[in-house]
Amino acid sequence: MAFQTMEWIGATATLRLLDQRFLPEVVQYRDLATPEAVAGAIRDMTVRGAPAIGVSAAFGIAQAALLAEAAGRPLIPALEAADGVLRASRPTAVNLFWALDRMAGLWRAGAGAAQLLAEAQVMEREDIAVNEAIAAHALAILPQEVTFFHHCNTGALAAVGVGTALGIIRRAHEAGRKVFAYLDETRPRLQGAKLSSFELMEYGVPHAIVVDGASAHIMRRRRVDMAVVGCDRVAANGDTANKIGTYNLALAAQDNGVPFYVACPSSTIDLATPDGDGIEIEEREADEVLRIGGQRVAPEGAPAFNPAFDVTPNRLIAGLITEFGIVRPPFDVNLRALLAGRDGR
Ligand code: MRU
Repeated sequence: MAFQTMEWIGATATLRLLDQRFLPEVVQYRDLATPEAVAGAIRDMTVRGAPAIGVSAAFGIAQAALLAEAAGRPLIPALEAADGVLRASRPTAVNLFWALDRMAGLWRAGAGAAQLLAEAQVMEREDIAVNEAIAAHALAILPQEVTFFHHCNTGALAAVGVGTALGIIRRAHEAGRKVFAYLDETRPRLQGAKLSSFELMEYGVPHAIVVDGASAHIMRRRRVDMAVVGCDRVAANGDTANKIGTYNLALAAQDNGVPFYVACPSSTIDLATPDGDGIEIEEREADEVLRIGGQRVAPEGAPAFNPAFDVTPNRLIAGLITEFGIVRPPFDVNLRALLAGRDGR
């Protein structure tokens, strides 16, 4: 593969991240030597996608412990500070908080740097396995010939392994299915056009980039078998936060009888949030809307509003494809049962 999203460099205790801000033109990496730098890379979207953000944050915590140990400084204040700065980096993807809570459970119980680094590496390996399991469960319900609709980026760039929704598309193609994918360009940051297409070009998956507003029209006029997207936070009732425009895609899918699936690692399920109204939606700077490629496209001084995520109501979702299988409605009951099973394993 021509890229690697993240890599822990043990000799220097640095996290190497592919700098996704310059894709698809330039494949370049940043080596991050402190948890503050890792938090900055999450905030400025060097790394993006819920699973990739979570694992990066876990390495940031390990790094804080390694740095403190090497300097002979007390561990707990260093870890508290790192935890705080990482938690403040982005608000919506729950994987960030899931990863930090998991690491905090260890360091509050007295774990040292070596144990924290080992845990971050376990999370890295787990993500690879989770991605594969999600793809395998999806393959079981896919026809031999399948046309997908996809939003944002959910592939190897957004995770450690093959990714979630885009991982399904890639694995279906590699398994010999006749695959075609429509990729929403995903304004304003263009994750579909820049990142998902970059990946599918790499894997040789036939696809077309479309403007976000084209989905309803395409579903009405052309064959689309399934819409599949990722998620940043799934509330206890199945309401799903994902990249802005996902809700519109789900409405278009419902109106055209296209099943709408969410590829959902269990780490993205947040039972503490009862429904989608409780999910904090990141609002980003107006310039992301007002400029394309640095070029202003709106009148000088024009205002803009830029919510980065939306919430798709559970009634529009046919199933949540998790690493343990496909969860169907009623989601409030079935998600609780799924996580109880996971935690009892
Ligand atoms: O703002 P981003 O690029 O971090 O948003 C990414 C998404 O919304 C993804 O669809 C989501 O995190 C799932 S990634 C498997």
